[in-house]
Amino acid sequence: MSDPGARSLPEVARVGVLASGGGTNLAALIEATTAQGSPARIVVVGADRPRAGALQRARAAQIPTFVVLKRDHPDRRGFDRALVEQLRAHHVEWVCLAGFMKRIGPPMLDAFPSRILNIHPALLPAFPGLDGQGQAHRHGVRIAGCTVHLVDAGTDTGPIVAQGAVPVLQGDTEHNLQQRILRMEHTIYPAALRWAVEGRLTVEDRRVHIDLPEGEAPWWFDPTP
Ligand code: GRF
Repeated sequence: MSDPGARSLPEVARVGVLASGGGTNLAALIEATTAQGSPARIVVVGADRPRAGALQRARAAQIPTFVVLKRDHPDRRGFDRALVEQLRAHHVEWVCLAGFMKRIGPPMLDAFPSRILNIHPALLPAFPGLDGQGQAHRHGVRIAGCTVHLVDAGTDTGPIVAQGAVPVLQGDTEHNLQQRILRMEHTIYPAALRWAVEGRLTVEDRRVHIDLPEGEAPWWFDPTP
């Protein structure tokens, strides 16, 4: 039994976010963590692409940023070590992957054991890997959604923290579905991060127990007709 969230309150947890793309999840996390009384603060945003929109969002919010390029490192270990170095320089305690398109390897997992969260745009364990929304749409599922999980050495295989379900409507395009899922991502990720930094998560085998605040639940259903 491990206790990935053990920490003494009421300090504010220092969170680093890694992203590769536009950063709408980052924006949702910034909004949640800058609200009065938030138990988390985003202290740095890193990207593997200098042009990632997420970096601009971070700068606009006056959050320090860094870029680590894969091509500057001979192998994956070196790339991972560079990420660890940057995150440690900002005294990061928790890491959120928010559309980060690189696999996380042993140096990161060892530096932040059970303290890396990821958002995946499908109801895991269905449709792991790239383009979860497209995979679900092409498969013809009736219910799609998203998952926040703790990161382990596999691809989208880590213990599940929270899930949000959305319907697939008649005539939906991949784009429509992706947007509906994305809105759900913006709801579940901030909640999962809050529970994590508040020390509410306990992992036993691969099941996550959450000491939930009253009235909260680790699942969501989009009521779109
Ligand atoms: C999201 O769909 C997320 O689930 C996936 O990558 C996308 C990132 O979107 N991992 P954004 O950059 O947060 O807008």
